Amino acid sequence: EAIYRPGAFGRKPAVPTDFTDLERAAIRRMSKRAVAYLAGGAGNSATVDNNRRALDRWAIVPRMLRDTSQRSLRTELFGRVLPAPVLVAPVGAGALVHRKADVHIGAAAAALGIPYIFSNQGSAPMEQTAAEMDRVAAKNGGVSAPRWFQLYYSTDEALVYSLIGRAEAIGAEALVVTLDTTQLGWRPQDLNIGSLPFSQAVGIDQYTSDPRFAEMVDEHLAAAKRSGERPKTEVTLGGLRTLLAMSRNMPGKFLRNLVSPIPRAAVETFLATYSRPSLNWQDVTALRTRTKLPILVKGIQHPDDARKAVDLGIDGIVVSNHGGRQVDGGIGAADALVDVVGAVGDRTKIVFDSGIRGGADIFKALSLGADAVAIGRPHMYGLALAGRRGVQEVLENFVAELDLTLGLSGFNSPAELSPEALQRIR
Ligand code: FNR
Repeated sequence: EAIYRPGAFGRKPAVPTDFTDLERAAIRRMSKRAVAYLAGGAGNSATVDNNRRALDRWAIVPRMLRDTSQRSLRTELFGRVLPAPVLVAPVGAGALVHRKADVHIGAAAAALGIPYIFSNQGSAPMEQTAAEMDRVAAKNGGVSAPRWFQLYYSTDEALVYSLIGRAEAIGAEALVVTLDTTQLGWRPQDLNIGSLPFSQAVGIDQYTSDPRFAEMVDEHLAAAKRSGERPKTEVTLGGLRTLLAMSRNMPGKFLRNLVSPIPRAAVETFLATYSRPSLNWQDVTALRTRTKLPILVKGIQHPDDARKAVDLGIDGIVVSNHGGRQVDGGIGAADALVDVVGAVGDRTKIVFDSGIRGGADIFKALSLGADAVAIGRPHMYGLALAGRRGVQEVLENFVAELDLTLGLSGFNSPAELSPEALQRIR
């Protein structure tokens, strides 16, 4: 109602309320690099398409005359009551889209009480985003929305533990370990414009501001010096353009980056430590001795992996294919969700993402057995178009449409949903 009422008096929203127009408008607004990185998928984007197809193969079968006047979307997750079964997914290098990406997203999530999963590759240090969320919560006279921390398990364990320690210190309430990105997927859109590695390492202050990362860069420079190698300061035209884009409104930073060998060393250090193809179950379960936070694993798509995670004492599963950005030609995430729910749905908490584009999609994922969903690209498009306001509107619209879909389909709460609310389209 709060969304409809202003419309009745001719007020237009800051961002389009449907995904197609939202994406189209955001793409028009963003830089070429941002579009390639954000909108792009792995390979030929078959997994991105499969994510949509998997959701579209289910149709909602509304029920009538069941009194849906007393609806509530409230959902409990890891000891917190959330206003809706919705989270903000971790998205790295957001500075490509907006200078204050993480801080704006955190503020929008905090205003709505929606949990925000901070990316390991976030563009702002988590302390800064957390402080902004606290500020917004205090202004509204409430408790801050939950913040979770998403970890990429790099090859440097001291860095991993440093990040976990920082997450605990800012009051993170869960640790999400992403398993599907032990190496970056095949990303033609980025490769074709020579953008990815450089822009990522420049735009991920979460990682590069870590005290352990600074040590690693020093070690890298010292090793280069010992071997008599002069630190390279070669800057390509593409690299220059990226530096300029990333330093917009920050001329000081741009100049420092230009004359210092450290950015180059930072990029090399990042590239040398970020990938960890050797990652295995033992590494992940060993995290149990390092933190008391609930641990979720993100990127599970096979029922056997889901069973194994639960058997090993992992606290929750994020069924996700990283928005189709890692393996091309992969299973649609909603198809994976059906299998994972069949295997462990009654034994663990399941969060779902990849392909959610509106309230009806959330309804479907919940009906298929997810406890909550995470939103990826859509809120970033809101950010591109209207900053914090844009993120907040996108999240509000998703929740409002979910609420309406629930009511118009004959249900009062997410707990009432089951596959019986859907029909499989053949
Ligand atoms: C991501 N995703 C992601 N996941 C993660 O665990 N850590 C990260 O740093 C990132 N970074 C990232 C950047 C960008 C630009 C995108 C689009 C996605 C994946 C994200 O958390 C989520 O799984 C997907 O975005 C969900 O799919 P949709 O909603 O974008 O289709």
